Amino acid sequence: MQTHEIRERFIQHFVNAGHQEVPSASLILDDPNLLFVNAGMVPFKPYFLGQQTPPFPQGTATSIQKCVRTLDIEEVGITTRHNTFFQMAGNFSFGQYFKAGAIKHAWELLTNPVAQGGYGMDPEKLWVTVYLDDDEAAEIWEHEIGLPKERIQRLGMADNYWSMGVPGPCGPCSEIYYDRGPEYGKEGGPIADDSRYLEIWNLVFMEKERGEGIGKDNFEILGDLPKKNIDTGLGVERVACLLQGVDNVYETDLLRPVIDVAEKLTGAAYGQGGQNDIRFRVIADHSRTGMMLILDGVTPGNEGRGYILRRLLRRIIRSARLLGATGETMGVFMNTIMDTMTPSYPEIAEHRERILQVAINEEKAFLRTLESGTHLFEEAAASVKASGSHVLAGAQAFALHDTYGFPIDLTLEMAAEAGLEVDQEGFHSLMAEQRARAKADSQAKKHGHADLSIYREFVDEHPTEFTGYTESTSNAQVLGLITEGKLLPTASVGDNVEVILDTTPMYAESGGQLGDRGIIRTGDTILRVNDVQKIGKKLWVHKATVEQGELEVGANVEASVDAQWRHAARQAHSATHLIHAALREVLGPTAVQAGSMNKPGYLRFDFNWTQPLTREQLQRIEAITNEAVDHDWAVNTLETSLEEAKAMGAMALFGENYGDQVRVVEIGGPFSMELCGGIHVDHASQIGPVAVLGESSIGSGARRIEAYSGLDSFTYLSRERALAAGLATALKSPSEELPERIAALTEKLKEAEKEIAALHRKQLAAKTGEYLASARTINGFQVITATLPQGTSAGDLRTTAIDLKGRLGEQPGVIILGAQDDKNKAPFVVGATQSAIQRGVKSGQLVGILGGFVGGRGGGKPDMAQGSGNDASGFDAGFAAVVNALENL
Ligand code: SER
Repeated sequence: MQTHEIRERFIQHFVNAGHQEVPSASLILDDPNLLFVNAGMVPFKPYFLGQQTPPFPQGTATSIQKCVRTLDIEEVGITTRHNTFFQMAGNFSFGQYFKAGAIKHAWELLTNPVAQGGYGMDPEKLWVTVYLDDDEAAEIWEHEIGLPKERIQRLGMADNYWSMGVPGPCGPCSEIYYDRGPEYGKEGGPIADDSRYLEIWNLVFMEKERGEGIGKDNFEILGDLPKKNIDTGLGVERVACLLQGVDNVYETDLLRPVIDVAEKLTGAAYGQGGQNDIRFRVIADHSRTGMMLILDGVTPGNEGRGYILRRLLRRIIRSARLLGATGETMGVFMNTIMDTMTPSYPEIAEHRERILQVAINEEKAFLRTLESGTHLFEEAAASVKASGSHVLAGAQAFALHDTYGFPIDLTLEMAAEAGLEVDQEGFHSLMAEQRARAKADSQAKKHGHADLSIYREFVDEHPTEFTGYTESTSNAQVLGLITEGKLLPTASVGDNVEVILDTTPMYAESGGQLGDRGIIRTGDTILRVNDVQKIGKKLWVHKATVEQGELEVGANVEASVDAQWRHAARQAHSATHLIHAALREVLGPTAVQAGSMNKPGYLRFDFNWTQPLTREQLQRIEAITNEAVDHDWAVNTLETSLEEAKAMGAMALFGENYGDQVRVVEIGGPFSMELCGGIHVDHASQIGPVAVLGESSIGSGARRIEAYSGLDSFTYLSRERALAAGLATALKSPSEELPERIAALTEKLKEAEKEIAALHRKQLAAKTGEYLASARTINGFQVITATLPQGTSAGDLRTTAIDLKGRLGEQPGVIILGAQDDKNKAPFVVGATQSAIQRGVKSGQLVGILGGFVGGRGGGKPDMAQGSGNDASGFDAGFAAVVNALENL
């Protein structure tokens, strides 16, 4: 049975039983605790906790959720059941049916004959586990389902008590296993061998709320949830593996085609066992995960989600190379996996080009890194071995990473292959130092991944009401004051404090727009707000300084946005949308946003693109943007459902969830339509002029456009104009002819410089005779000292010294020259003939003496040494000192 059919049967089974079908949420949800959605229940969390009423008529739902788990990335391909991307099919009951209902539904779907819509599994092959003291579930399995007692096993908290690993809903669970037969392992049920007995479905009886704690079995139970709920998760890939009669999840219908093309591309054969098979499976698994992450808007980077994507893609590339591929392979893998996945995820079709481009760019960049890095690694490995050690130092691994972008996991793998270990502790402590340095600032400003627990109560109890779309001043109450992670009752003059209000008109940084600046005041008390950040989606934190008076928790205050800031911030944010729209008009739809930042007067916009933009492209982007301003289109915002917004063609990539209300900002109808929570102008003309500053690369396959907006554009353009006018006057040329005029002048200047240099050399050559004639005999040496004409370069000094040495021939001669060059430096040189050297002259030493008199240093070999100082007036005294040294030799 094909995977698509497994999905369909699941949904159909539960829809028939009154469940509402809910589409998969994006892999990226706005939850600070979760990098990726990793279970079917994640989007339903507020319903379990009773924070929101589930919007499903019967109080039940079913979904097939995209999930990514990368904790076990090393296990991929080694075990038979670890996919980093998988689809979790689930049914959910919010206070409706409980244990008996969930167990019956599951049993029916698994064992009903195929002709009746089920999976047709042999009931004899099914085993279950229940939580230690969950007699209720055990009874249901035994008496209502009729499962023999010996196939019901009990396990402890670590296995049969499910939570998200963080505070939230939890409860005991019952897991269903399929016995794959003796060729897969030993008898005795899931407690004896969880490879032979494959877990396929987890039924969680969600009835408690857990608190902080560590791991799967060490946390506090805070109490009962408002209702008893059901959350189940069936592993679609594992069921596919069983129903398709293949050995492992990498050989099912959706992944096997990738292995097949990998065989063709690399020339290696799958199915021979050993490392190669693992590599094929890594390619198949990671291609799919990488593709699905890019689909949901992740781009390769060095931190967080971006890093995970990068790591996956790089593991594919390396595996392919180890299998024998020599060129690029990513395009083929991506095309293959997109083909197999599109029937279940039709949206892939729209994003095909973009997905390909992101993946291929990463491959190109990585192949370059691999080339230089491998070479460096080999050198490092050879020197480690030569020194008799088998441990690559942490500092070496760090240098490979820091300087050459060589990821540590790759260093580890390559070291293992070379029979070496890596001092990981040393590496990580260097990394930690570097990170601490880099993050110290930004962490102080934002929250990073700091402990957020202090905010949790506010998030849950008092989410902030934001009034800033319509108001710039609001009355509010102070709910909390926080400094360095601690709650305070009051804050007084000079204190830097985080203020939590029940209501605020101030925008908190998000969607690329910086937080507002403003004032919080009550009576004589004044706080200046320097930044506003958001915790999750719901809590606004004002970072403020008390400028006057004292502020108490509970006080009624007036919060107002700095009007000038807001005016320019709106201009910049709307300008960002226009630049985005113009960019796509010029470059096409594959130029996808990778990030943006805007603040009053300035914006930058990052997008995926490999080549530098031409000057013409930039000019067109700027022109289209300003034409849109000139159209004076109305800027409309509307709130609607995510589905509706997508249907309208609004651009949406990140973090939105099914059923979410979203805000669409539209400028000029189809010209620009984006999901955006930011603050915008009412009419395009209010943006004022937009001046593009330029564009640049920001690393692997991404580029950045920068621009000014509003008055800042004017100031910038006006400065440029003044500059051009100044040049025009100075060069006595109309400003439009400046480029040619300057090119001509530069050319002339180059010629003149060449001529001067030639003259100089001639002059020097002419003078060489004079210098030679000035030689004095000192202590048996022919000594020449001379200050050469102003403007003589260090190179010319050297040439003259060589020339003089040559002319002195066999005589023991010492030449000591100095000059003042064009840059106000005082270069000097000392040269000695062979016979002088035999008599003990060392030019390096003499040059050191001379340097001391002209404020400089120098060095070199016995026959020729040079240096540079900054005080040519010291040469005479310096020459005398050198001569003195020669006298005493
Ligand atoms: N939430 C449970 C799991 O992830 C069941 O869906 O296993």
